[in-house]
Amino acid sequence: MRTIFAHRGVSSLAPENTLSAIKLCTDYQVRWFECDIDILQDDTIVLSHDSTLDRCTNRSGPLFELNRQDLDQIDAGSWFSDEYCGERIPTLDQLIAQMNQYQLNANIEIKSGDVSAEACRRLLAGLDRALNQLNDGREYIISSFNPMLLAEFKRLRPQAPVACLFENHTLNDDWHVIMEWTGAEYIHPQNEGLTQQQVQLFKSKGYQVNVWTVNAKDRANQLFNWGVDGIFTDFPQNFSSKYRED
Ligand code: G3P
Ligand code: MG
Repeated sequence: MRTIFAHRGVSSLAPENTLSAIKLCTDYQVRWFECDIDILQDDTIVLSHDSTLDRCTNRSGPLFELNRQDLDQIDAGSWFSDEYCGERIPTLDQLIAQMNQYQLNANIEIKSGDVSAEACRRLLAGLDRALNQLNDGREYIISSFNPMLLAEFKRLRPQAPVACLFENHTLNDDWHVIMEWTGAEYIHPQNEGLTQQQVQLFKSKGYQVNVWTVNAKDRANQLFNWGVDGIFTDFPQNFSSKYRED
């Protein structure tokens, strides 16, 4: 099974982590997407890669200072193109509704970079509640670079499939200890520098392997030939249907 994950939605054609970018998956028969989540001051969970508004909206400053009602005033699309002027930062509840409506599956990556441990706990509890709203048949994977968040989420929701994210320089000899400690079924290593030997080691331990972020077709072919299960790409529209799992 080879899975193509639309990274932050179809982020080469629409503003990342927006409902438009995720809905575009349906145009290309991509059933899985990846998105990043974080929490606001009033416990609203939203889609955002960054902990500030600066790069992907018409505002600046920390995301965490916002409340739900502020989202209606923030443009998260015109930085990308005029076509997406007025696009909003979506809430996790809106995302879950869209997954149900379009029968999409999600890798939800927990960010929460700049918030307190208490806010992190509320984020995990809110994510757990939101996942209860998914219709039967919808699939998800929860991932993070932070093993403590994953272990805590696994305690809250033992049935949740969980993935440890690794940057190339953090893939040290203790990677397997981290996997076992979190209870993760998936390993999500960085593409750059990843070797066939590493992929074979992950597979020999029984893990599913999804690699980020792979935009070149030749590299995707190489990874799949090594036994990788899936890739995250900004260009899912460029991958022929033979790679798709549906
Ligand atoms: O989840 C894969 C990938 O999204 C991890 O890196 O920085 O794009 O969230 P980043
Ligand atoms: Mg991500």
